[in-house]
Amino acid sequence: MDSFELNKMAAAFLIALLTAKGVDLLAKSLIHPTPLKENAYKITGAGTPTSTTPTQTGPGAIEPLLANANVEKGAEIFKKCASCHTIDKGGPNRVGPNLYGVVGRKKDGHPGYAYSAAMSKKEGVWSYDDLNIYLYSPRDFVPGTKMSFAGIKNDQDRAHLIAYLRAQSESPLPLPAVREKASSVPAEKSPAS
Ligand code: HEC
Repeated sequence: MDSFELNKMAAAFLIALLTAKGVDLLAKSLIHPTPLKENAYKITGAGTPTSTTPTQTGPGAIEPLLANANVEKGAEIFKKCASCHTIDKGGPNRVGPNLYGVVGRKKDGHPGYAYSAAMSKKEGVWSYDDLNIYLYSPRDFVPGTKMSFAGIKNDQDRAHLIAYLRAQSESPLPLPAVREKASSVPAEKSPAS
C-alpha cells in the first residue's frame, strides 16, 4: 500500500465523518425538539382520586343497623367486654364500671367507680350515637379514656352489641327512628332538615 492509497482512505474516512455530522446538524435544524411543559395526555387515576365516593373513615349510622340487630349475637360479642365489665343488675365494678342500664345513663354515672378525668369531662348520657362512636374507637371519642380497648370496627357487630346493652335495663330506651338518609352526619346538624 503506497502513501497515495493511504491518503485516499484517510480522505474517504474524513468525508464519511463530515457527512454524518452534516446529516445530524441538518436533522436537528429540521426537527426542533422543544420539551412539553406538561403531559399532552393527562394521566388521571395516579395520585388524585377520580372517584367522588368518600372512603369510610368512621362508624356508619347506627339506626338502620339497630333495626336488624340481634340481642343474642350481641351477647356473644359482649364476651370481649366481660373481662373488664359486668352487666348484671347490681354487678360489681371491675376494671371498668358495671354496665347494667348504660344506654341512656349519664356518662361517668355509675356510683362507686373512679372514672378517668377525660371521661368525667364528658357531658350528657350514653345515647345510641355516642355509644356507636365510642365503641368504634374509644380513644377517639374520649381522648385519655382508661378503657384500653381498640374498638369494634364492624358496623353490624357494634349494632348487635348495642342492642344487647340496651336490653340489659329495667326500662330499655326506645329504639331510635331510622333516618331518611343514612349518613354519619347527625340529621339535626344538617341545615337542610
Ligand atoms: C380492658 C378493659 C376493658 C374492656 C375490654 C372494655 N372496657 Fe369499657 N371501660 C373500661 C374502663 C376502664 C372504663 C372507664 C373509662 C374511663 O373512665 O375513661 C370503661 C368504660 C366504658 C363505658 C362507659 C361507662 C360509663 O359508665 O360511662 C362503656 C359504655 C363501655 N366501657 C363499654 C364497653 C363495651 C361494650 C366493651 C366491649 C366491646 C368494653 N367496654 C370493653 C374498660 C374496658
